[in-house]
Amino acid sequence: MSDSTRMVLHAFAALADLGEEIAETSDFEEMVRSALHVVLGTMGIRRGAVAEFDRGTGVLRFVASRGFGDTHPAEVNLPRKSREGANGNGNGDGSAPYAHALQDYALVEHEIHERFHEAGVEVVTPLVVRGELVGVILLGGKASGVAFTQEDRELARALGRHVGVGLHNHRLLREVERRAEENQKLYETMKGSYKDTVRAFAAAIDCKDKYTQGHSERVGKYSEIIAREMGWGDEEVEAIAIGGYLHDVGKLVVDRDIINAPYRIDAKQSSELNRHPAAGYEILRPIQHPFADIPLMARYHHERPDGRGYPEGLKDEEIPPGAKIVSLADSFDAMTTDRPYRRRRTFDEVVADFRRNSGKQFSPQVVVALCRALLKEARGETRPRQMMRLLGRDYVPEHTLPALEQLIADLESGAHLTTAQASGPA
Ligand SMILES: [Fe+2]
Repeated sequence: MSDSTRMVLHAFAALADLGEEIAETSDFEEMVRSALHVVLGTMGIRRGAVAEFDRGTGVLRFVASRGFGDTHPAEVNLPRKSREGANGNGNGDGSAPYAHALQDYALVEHEIHERFHEAGVEVVTPLVVRGELVGVILLGGKASGVAFTQEDRELARALGRHVGVGLHNHRLLREVERRAEENQKLYETMKGSYKDTVRAFAAAIDCKDKYTQGHSERVGKYSEIIAREMGWGDEEVEAIAIGGYLHDVGKLVVDRDIINAPYRIDAKQSSELNRHPAAGYEILRPIQHPFADIPLMARYHHERPDGRGYPEGLKDEEIPPGAKIVSLADSFDAMTTDRPYRRRRTFDEVVADFRRNSGKQFSPQVVVALCRALLKEARGETRPRQMMRLLGRDYVPEHTLPALEQLIADLESGAHLTTAQASGPA
């Protein structure tokens, strides 16, 4: 095997490897520079450049260049008029698969010679992949000083096919990335309008109950904070916030007089009111939510670990985790806001209620998470202090923090089950 044949074979192997790397690497330009280096070295050529051609925009962009100095522009815009002329009519019927490529190439070659003749471009090699011109390699100045032969041109074309595949793959990769980005944006927009709709819904729910303005939004926020404290992921935290906003959506079908009754409602009214979790589920079920379990959070937010909740009397692990969180957030907001027939509870009373009802009405792990989040905010360890903003700055007094800490420790060790106190209103 002659030296020149060995060199060409080596060049093909090197370019084949580069082809793979070009498709994978993020440092695309470095790879193209290497490819150019291989081509120039194999063929004994002093000057060369690789340019990418974008048929859509008519831009020829130089990706790598060697031996031409810094004189050439980074991009060449091909005149639209000549592009239209080159594309001609009837090229899109598939009858001549390389028709586009040939016409594009003729145009590019013409422009290159016009602009780069003085710089010493002698050969313009098309890089064609699947009937599309994806770029060109410009060559000039053989080291031997002789003119380019037909053989040289054919070798350049053969090597160029490898480089072309690299460019093509890179372009496909960019296209996939661009579309993924577009889809992501679209998804974000849809999620944004979904959230706006949910907030509007929450406001509509709260409007029906004149005593609980802003309740749904606060339940959404508390739920979000608890879930985050429990280590839930971003998506799940977003979901639980929505679940919180919508937990009482079923109240839309309950008689307004029952919801707003300024007195204790009777058994019949109570059973009417207690329809709202199941009704909420039915309202939310047909909606395509971006998150799972939203309807279940509405359905089970009045269930209790001791099985004394409604509508199904589920116990402990039967209750979806999201519903447990929304349930506590709901009760916490009810305890900490004024109603026409009662003042809100003091924080001491809330802590006592948590101690008494953990494991009965509330999941102890969820109570721990809420207490931890409260403790962190009260100590100024987290910014922003979202709960303190909702509760009022002075709602959690300094002197209650040891009791809060003790409650967390007892809940975590299970000690609350034996030390439950009966202080505070039920
Ligand atoms: Fe409710």
